[in-house]
Amino acid sequence: MKSAWLSIVLVAGCVDYMTPDPRDTLASLPSDVPTPADNPTTPEKVALGRALFWDPILSGDRDVACATCHHPDFAYGDGLAVSVGVGGRGIGPVRATNLDAPRTPRNAQTVLVTAFNGLTLDGAVPAEEAPMFWNHRVASLEQQVFGPIKSDAEMRGTSIPEEQIVDVIVARLAGIPEYAVLFEAAFGAEGVTPSTLAKAIAAFERTLVPTDTSFDRYMKGDDDAMSTSAIRGMHGFIFQGCARCHNGPMLSDFKLYELPIPATHGGPEVLGEATGKFRTASLRMISRTAPYGHNGVFENLSEVADFYHNIPVTTPLLEGDVEPPLGGGDDLLAFFEALSDGAFDRTIPDRVPSGLSPGGP
Ligand code: HEC
Ligand code: HEC
Repeated sequence: MKSAWLSIVLVAGCVDYMTPDPRDTLASLPSDVPTPADNPTTPEKVALGRALFWDPILSGDRDVACATCHHPDFAYGDGLAVSVGVGGRGIGPVRATNLDAPRTPRNAQTVLVTAFNGLTLDGAVPAEEAPMFWNHRVASLEQQVFGPIKSDAEMRGTSIPEEQIVDVIVARLAGIPEYAVLFEAAFGAEGVTPSTLAKAIAAFERTLVPTDTSFDRYMKGDDDAMSTSAIRGMHGFIFQGCARCHNGPMLSDFKLYELPIPATHGGPEVLGEATGKFRTASLRMISRTAPYGHNGVFENLSEVADFYHNIPVTTPLLEGDVEPPLGGGDDLLAFFEALSDGAFDRTIPDRVPSGLSPGGP
C-alpha cells in the first residue's frame, strides 16, 4: 500500500515525502581528521608514507604495492569484485586476467575517507580504535598496515614466511639510503622500524579525505550545492529507511549486520563468502567504487538497488520497512554522486626510492 501511495505522491509533485531535517540523521565531515596522540601528521611523514604506499618493495617478491589495489584511477579502490595482488599485472580489472593468481576473499575498500572510520552520529572514536576492514577485525590505520603486508595473496607471496616478512621489509628499507634519509626526517633517531613504517603510511592515508563534496557543502548550509534531484534522492533515502544504518557523516553506523548478500554473480571470478556479519558500508565515494558488497557481487549501483528492492520482507534486520528506491533510482544516483564528487589527491609518483615501478609492474 505504502508504495502505491508513494507513486501517487511522486506523480503529484515529489516534495510530499520530504523527511524531517536531513541533518537529524546525516552530517558533513568535520575538518579535523582523528589522529593518534603518538602519531601527529607532519609533511615529512606524509612524504615518506606516500613513497611507501606506492613502493612494491613492501611486498615479498617486490611486485605489489598498496597502490596496486588502492589506486587513484579507481578512487583508491581497484575496480575489481575481489582483489588480485600477488600474480597479477597492471592496475584495475586487467589484473583479473590471470585466473591462476590468488584472489582476496573480499572486495577492496577505498582508502579515501578511511581516516574517519568509526565516526558516527554519536561522535568519533579515538584514532587508535578506528575500525578497519569489512568485519572490523583490526583497529587503527597504523595496525591495518600489517594486514596486507603479511597476507600471502595480497603482498607477501610465498617466498618469505609470515613471521619474518615485516622484519625483512624493514631491513630492505633500512638498506636504501634514500629511505634512511626520509625516515630520519620523519622520525629522527627512531629510524626504520615496523612502528615508524606503519605510522608513515597512516599519516599519508589521513591526507586522503575529500571533505568538499556537494553533500558536505549542502549540509553546511549551501542550499545550491546539491541538485534538486540529489536532494530528492537524499530525502527518499532517509524515507526508505536506508539511513537507519547508513547515517551520520560517513553514511554508516559502523555496526555489523548479516544481510542476505548473494554469494556469486555467475561470472568467472571466484567470489568470497556471503555469510557472516559485515559493516554497514560507508557510502562516501560510492559512485566511484564499483563493484559493491563485501564480496563485490554487485557490478553497479542498480544491482545494489535491485537487491534492496527484492530483499525478502521477512528479513528481520530490515524489518520490512526498507522501501525500494524511489523514482526509478535516478534521484538516488544523483544523491550518491553528491557523496562522491569531492576532490582528492590523484598524484601518481614518477618514481619511488627503491627504483621499482611505482604501484607495481
Ligand atoms: C591485493 C590488493 C590489496 C593490497 C596490495 C592492499 N590492500 Fe588494502 N584492502 C584490500 C582489500 C581486499 C581490503 C578489504 C579487506 C577486508 O575487509 O577483509 C582492503 C582494506 C584496506 C583498508 C581498510 C579500509 C576500511 O574502510 O576499513 C585500508 C586502510 C587499506 N586496505 C590500506 C592498505 C595499505 C596501507 C596497503 C599497503 C600496506 C594495502 N591496503 C594493500 C586490498 C589490498
Ligand atoms: C540493516 C542496515 C542497513 C540498511 C537498512 C540498509 N543498508 Fe545498505 N548496507 C548495509 C550493510 C551491512 C552493507 C554491506 C553488505 C555486505 O556486503 O555484506 C550495505 C551495503 C550497501 C551498499 C554497497 C556499498 C559498497 O561499498 O559496497 C549500498 C550502495 C547500500 N548498502 C545502499 C543502501 C540503500 C540504498 C538502502 C536503502 C534502500 C540501504 N543500503 C539500507 C546495511 C544496511
